[in-house]
Amino acid sequence: MCGIVGAVSARNIVPILVEGLKRLEYRGYDSCGVAVHQDGQLKRARSTSRVAELEAQVAAENLAAGTGIAHTRWATHGAPAVANAHPHFSPGARAAADAQGRIALVHNGIIENHDELRAELQAKGFAFTSQTDTEVIAHLVADLYTGDLFEAVQQAVPRLKGAFAVAVFCRDEPQRVVGAREGSPLVLGVGEGETFLASDAMALAGVTDKIVYLEEGDVVDVQMGKHWIVGKQPDGNLRPVDRPVRIVQAHSGAADLGPYRHYMQKEIFEQPKAIADTLDAVAGISPELFGDGAYSAFKAIDQVLILACGTSYYAGLVAKQWIESVAAVPTQVEIASEYRYRDSVPNPRTLVVTITQSGETADTLAALKHARALGMTTTLTVCNVATSAMVRECRFAYLTRAGVEVGVASTKAFTTQLVGLYLLALALAQVRGRLADTQEAEQLKALRHLPTAVQAVLALEPQIVAWSQAFTSKEHALFLGRGLHYPVALEGALKLKEISYIHAEAYPAGELKHGPLALVTSAMPVVTIAPNDKLLEKLKSNLQEVRARGGELYVFADADTRIENAPGMHVIRMPEHYGPLSPILHTVPLQLLAYHTAVARGTDVDKPRNLAKSVTVE
Ligand code: M6R
Repeated sequence: MCGIVGAVSARNIVPILVEGLKRLEYRGYDSCGVAVHQDGQLKRARSTSRVAELEAQVAAENLAAGTGIAHTRWATHGAPAVANAHPHFSPGARAAADAQGRIALVHNGIIENHDELRAELQAKGFAFTSQTDTEVIAHLVADLYTGDLFEAVQQAVPRLKGAFAVAVFCRDEPQRVVGAREGSPLVLGVGEGETFLASDAMALAGVTDKIVYLEEGDVVDVQMGKHWIVGKQPDGNLRPVDRPVRIVQAHSGAADLGPYRHYMQKEIFEQPKAIADTLDAVAGISPELFGDGAYSAFKAIDQVLILACGTSYYAGLVAKQWIESVAAVPTQVEIASEYRYRDSVPNPRTLVVTITQSGETADTLAALKHARALGMTTTLTVCNVATSAMVRECRFAYLTRAGVEVGVASTKAFTTQLVGLYLLALALAQVRGRLADTQEAEQLKALRHLPTAVQAVLALEPQIVAWSQAFTSKEHALFLGRGLHYPVALEGALKLKEISYIHAEAYPAGELKHGPLALVTSAMPVVTIAPNDKLLEKLKSNLQEVRARGGELYVFADADTRIENAPGMHVIRMPEHYGPLSPILHTVPLQLLAYHTAVARGTDVDKPRNLAKSVTVE
């Protein structure tokens, strides 16, 4: 992943670069750095701490200039260390080489042929100072540079295999930054007499709202108040292209924490509002909620294929069950990173549904393109970011209105995705004559009750805090659910592992006896989701199997389940039974359990180790 910012202006752009990095930390936070053209030289500051620390370093070193680039890193090649932090410098080739650095470059993506290029460049005398794949691009551009940076980058990009967005500048051309993208996002910001580059328009909010979304294969020459773009043609050559300037009202990222200790906690408690906002424009069930022309498109399909990653994939697993039971449309759910590389049997009468909070997840975007290349062109996304690549790529969209989600662990994005997906199941049912008017009214009533119902679940927080004390000393946990709640168990286990670093696994409760039961001892907490549904009695038998082996059960049980507190059986009673919408409600206490366990263990809840909010590399 990684975030990039670049600027050419008459004013000092260092504060803009640093502020841009703060807003791009969601893309990775292993290290960060800034490089500027100052006093005829390249100068840089790099840090393995957060951007706030880099800001102090930049001030201490008096970095100030009108041209510069900056980077926040999610490590792929090379550990998070200062030597591997971007920007990377190249001294340049042969006679023009400058030990202080001649080319400065930042990169988001992965260069797959970096070994081959490194060997070639080493043979030419370039010395490498990092373990990154990125440094080869800096030296390659330096090697090709003969006085025109735009030319050098155009010659360099065809040599690169993999995915990249880069921003690069040269000591010899003080008012120029060149950008290029292939497989990783890059936008151009058009200001008044100044020009910017960034991984996301959000980095430039408040600086400019005039945004050009660069396309795959574009190379852009960024100068003060001017830019030129060359785009990759079908013959592989680069030729001048015009890209439209759009007015984008990008948000500037994180809002105040208010009374909350972490963004994750704030976002958990924002769920009633996020769900209400997501339902705000829904006056009735209709395919047109997903875009003009959706009625005929939904009528023409006979299968749904859901593509997603992580938490969004679990939302897809819930959606499969809803779509098959409510609309009777066969539905397949695939992990995007697997689907794109496996042989599958395409059906042109498929509705391809991507689920993504960010709309920028590389695996999901690539899986969508793969499905389209196989002839499945009816595409729909359930997405939280209106300006994202995914929304631009798909024919239909349902925009969730969760608002900005800052915490790396997805919370309100998941529950609002479920709302959008339930509406999709109902719309598909309606098109097939499986949703009578009375049923539509009942479903809308149940959906509109969700914000109140979630609020009541949030009131369970004190009981969950008490439970979390028992989890802090554990190294493993099991999560059980059945039917619609198996994906909820998966999501609960993912939440616990990603922010508390406790190893957690989820199983359909009936599967326990086929192996995982061997893990159960009194040291293994077993979290169970026990809705009052048709599988309740089966689930109770599974709980007995755990108790008989001395396992400690932590059960979130609906009212009327007659599951009571007993030795080894801890029960928190959910306020109501919610029918098919139950997964939305049962997710909330699992989020709180993970959150409070992580807080008690003292982890960095909003920025857990090794992760990033937006996963833009494959
Ligand atoms: O932005 P996306 O929904 O496409 O992201 C997919 C996953 O990376 C994401 O859901 C991830 O699993 C969550 N951060 C987990 O909490």
